Amino acid sequence: MRLPIIAGNWKMNNTISESLALIEDIKKYDLNKEVEAVVCVPYISLSKVKKALEGTDIKLGAQNMHWEDNGAYTGEISPVMLKEIGVDYCIIGHSERRQYFNELDDRVNKKIKAALKYDIKPIVCVGETLEEREASKEEEVVKEQVLKALENIEKEDIKNIVIAYEPIWAIGTGKTASSDDANKMCEFIRKTIGDKYDVEAKEDIRIQYGGSVKPDTIKDLMAKKDVDGALVGGASLVARDFVSLVNY
Ligand code: PGA
Repeated sequence: MRLPIIAGNWKMNNTISESLALIEDIKKYDLNKEVEAVVCVPYISLSKVKKALEGTDIKLGAQNMHWEDNGAYTGEISPVMLKEIGVDYCIIGHSERRQYFNELDDRVNKKIKAALKYDIKPIVCVGETLEEREASKEEEVVKEQVLKALENIEKEDIKNIVIAYEPIWAIGTGKTASSDDANKMCEFIRKTIGDKYDVEAKEDIRIQYGGSVKPDTIKDLMAKKDVDGALVGGASLVARDFVSLVNY
């Protein structure tokens, strides 16, 4: 059985004090223990949020990292630094990073390997643009992203990787893929993993959907066979909404 995973991607939102206030709000509610809840917060808030999460089951995630342990990379943050804080997850290859920060597939691959080396679980984002979907190229595009991301990654590591299928046209737009469309793509990604590795890897890999997920759409989504969770932007910034997503 795959453990469902609901991850909040706060993006570039919340100062340190706002981050702590949001965590305190979330802590007022009971969360379903059968679901893994993750908050992916800005770098500067990671240490303090880690402390604030003590005694809860909520996991901590970063939103990006460099692939080197250290070095002359001004402005970057390494997996070693994240490890010391006690980060459990790291979003890698989010479409906003691909789009605005030139994050190409080979960098995504290096970052996944670096995360795994330090026991940080990567949440690897893939997804097509609107033009690609309109040209019926979504499977081709997503397959290429998945295979390039997982190049030279061993089967043993698959259980520690989460893939987030996030169609770019659905991110922050209020447009969401139907639960059937989301499931179809998650199923396709699962098949791609099965073809690359084997049946066990296919069954182990956790696949999330992301893109305008809201409390009123989560139930339908989570009822689908191949959807193991959600990566949520906007709705994760409101405590009550995040809690309803986790408690779907
Ligand atoms: P959204 O963002 O839920 O605001 O659409 C999702 C994401 O970018 O991970």
